[in-house]
Amino acid sequence: MVTQDSRARLNVAIVGAGGVAHLHAQALAADPRVVLVAVAEPDAARRAAFAERYAVPRAYASHEELLAAEALDLVHLCTPPGAHREQALAAFAAGADVLCEKPPALSLADLDAMEAAAAAAGRRFGVTFQQRTGTAAGHVKRLLDDGALGRPLLAQCQTLWHRDAAYYAVDWRGTWAGEGGGTTFGHGIHQLDLLAYLLGDWAEVDARLWRLARDIELEDVSTATLRFADGVVAQAVSSVLSPRETSVVRIDCELATVEVEHLYGHGAAHWRITPAPGVPDDVAASWALPTDDEPSGHTPLVRAVVDAVWAGTPLPDVATHARRPLEIVTAIYASATYGTPVTPADLRGDARFRASLAAEVTDLRASDHADLRASDHADLRASDPTDDGKE
Ligand SMILES: NC(=O)c1ccc[n+]([C@@H]2O[C@H](COP(=O)([O-])OP(=O)(O)OC[C@H]3O[C@@H](n4cnc5c(N)ncnc54)[C@H](O)[C@@H]3O)[C@@H](O)[C@H]2O)c1
Repeated sequence: MVTQDSRARLNVAIVGAGGVAHLHAQALAADPRVVLVAVAEPDAARRAAFAERYAVPRAYASHEELLAAEALDLVHLCTPPGAHREQALAAFAAGADVLCEKPPALSLADLDAMEAAAAAAGRRFGVTFQQRTGTAAGHVKRLLDDGALGRPLLAQCQTLWHRDAAYYAVDWRGTWAGEGGGTTFGHGIHQLDLLAYLLGDWAEVDARLWRLARDIELEDVSTATLRFADGVVAQAVSSVLSPRETSVVRIDCELATVEVEHLYGHGAAHWRITPAPGVPDDVAASWALPTDDEPSGHTPLVRAVVDAVWAGTPLPDVATHARRPLEIVTAIYASATYGTPVTPADLRGDARFRASLAAEVTDLRASDHADLRASDHADLRASDPTDDGKE
């Protein structure tokens, strides 16, 4: 029988050795089943420093050189979003599984291509939405899935972060070409993903994009109302203008409010479950958050991916379902642009927004956005037979 000790370790490489790559390297270093054999990074100084810091034996200037030279089980893509599609396709073609940083792709069409390539090559395709991980988040998901808290009714989803001009000075940030979208796409997507991980399929999005303060091509704030398939109504805001930063997901259910308030990661101490009046103490006690708590983060996410690659099994939910957050974010851009609620069916039939978040929004940006949206709304609402005139 093959044991962990007697098996060859998994050969893993990291592509892109910037900020987030350190979290991947540290998570890999903690796992005895893997060896970080190589890194690919075009910046020579960063490449050398990263290889030295994590004792990575081989370093390459590009992913092409890396994939040509190495036999890899797993490739971590820690590059800017615009590079993910091409690099994932190349890794699948080279026979490797991929763990890709969020956002997985610049568009749903790109994600289609990545998923199709993974399926055709028989490879795993994981995405790093690490807010889904952590013992407490798993516990809350089970409570919601089991109906222990009653029917979920109303939700809040806030990503109130602060990013200044220095943050946007990095060449790929702040532009449609480099980032593919603004704070909704780059930051809010984490909390929106956690919300959707807890609540399931979305049914409708009604949203606005705002650029209130930063000198960038993209939105610095978005506001959205989401409806989920099970009827939950959620309000979501994403911002890079908020000096007191916080990240919040709150769900009001029939029997309790469950909420998490954190910044970039959460443990049991960040979660709270408040019973509704009249809920018996023993029932509320049965919901208690775990005390043997592992916080959310790259470490549990990377471990879950390595577990699957090591065992030869499909990836678990925490590393898949990349389409759900990307669809919700795409729907926010589409709704804000067209001035009308957007459903999954609308999105499926909309070639423009499947292909790119940028094209249509960029057109709108050249006009007076707020005025245009107000008049769009007036026209659409007046012709909507289901609108009873209440606001
Ligand atoms: N999950 C999270 O919490 C989290 C946090 C931060 C960033 N991210 C995501 O990680 C990705 C990278 O973000 P970052 O903050 O580390 O950016 P970064 O700019 O700090 O690092 C990106 C690195 O990739 C390199 N690079 C660029 N093009 C490349 C190419 N074609 N091949 C190889 N390397 C290339 C750059 O030189 C740079 O060193 C983005 O998708 C970002 O959204 C996720």
